[in-house]
Amino acid sequence: MIKNLKIDEKLEKYIADHSYKLHPIQKEIINYNNKLGKIKKLQISMTQAYFFQLLIKMNNIKKILEIGTFTGFSALSMGLVIPKTGKITCLDLNKKTSDIAMNFFKKANMEKKIKIILGPAINNLKKLQKENKKFDMIFIDADKENYKKYFDKSLKLVKKNGYILIDNVLWKGDVSDPDKNDRLTTLMREFNSFIKRDDRIEKTILPLGDGLTICRKV
Ligand SMILES: C[S@@+](CC[C@H](N)C(=O)[O-])C[C@H]1O[C@@H](n2cnc3c(N)ncnc32)[C@H](O)[C@@H]1O
Repeated sequence: MIKNLKIDEKLEKYIADHSYKLHPIQKEIINYNNKLGKIKKLQISMTQAYFFQLLIKMNNIKKILEIGTFTGFSALSMGLVIPKTGKITCLDLNKKTSDIAMNFFKKANMEKKIKIILGPAINNLKKLQKENKKFDMIFIDADKENYKKYFDKSLKLVKKNGYILIDNVLWKGDVSDPDKNDRLTTLMREFNSFIKRDDRIEKTILPLGDGLTICRKV
């Protein structure tokens, strides 16, 4: 029987050393985030970023929507592998981190491929829906309180057979600990149960980073 592994920092580094090479601007963003203290953990893990890149290449994904961009690591990682005609639309309400992200995108010559729409994500998702926009892949990584709403809107915005990915679904592992019942852990459990019941999608939870749900719209 295969035993599940506990992925600590050492093992994560080993995986990194034996799987992929980072682009210089990915490295710059990681270095920048590392200096921010605790909030550096907002960024997705390198393994998640590489998984996104493989998924994009395997499925010829061109149009991506990202909900929650921070300083740009996940968006840049995806931007590096989409084809020339590809586009990434990012939604975030923080002007300061969005300006920092835009600077990194410019440095990587990616300002034409990636744009950030500032403001509360839910308003901009409604606008995108009104404009009849469709995406091959949507990545949800913003405020957890609105995950259900983001998921519902994403289902409308993603093409048939397209992907919706959702970060932080294992919430530091707390979701399976009966002694952890704080607001966000409870919210994440409710969200995971809600996704499980939804038969408009095929889905699984991958133990990458803080837990990543991958859904395919059927
Ligand atoms: C976990 S971080 C995103 C990390 C990013 N994907 C990365 O890998 O670097 C969450 C982001 O969501 C944004 N955010 C939080 N609430 C939001 C809202 N209501 N609407 C839009 N963005 C929001 C925050 O400003 C923050 O940049």
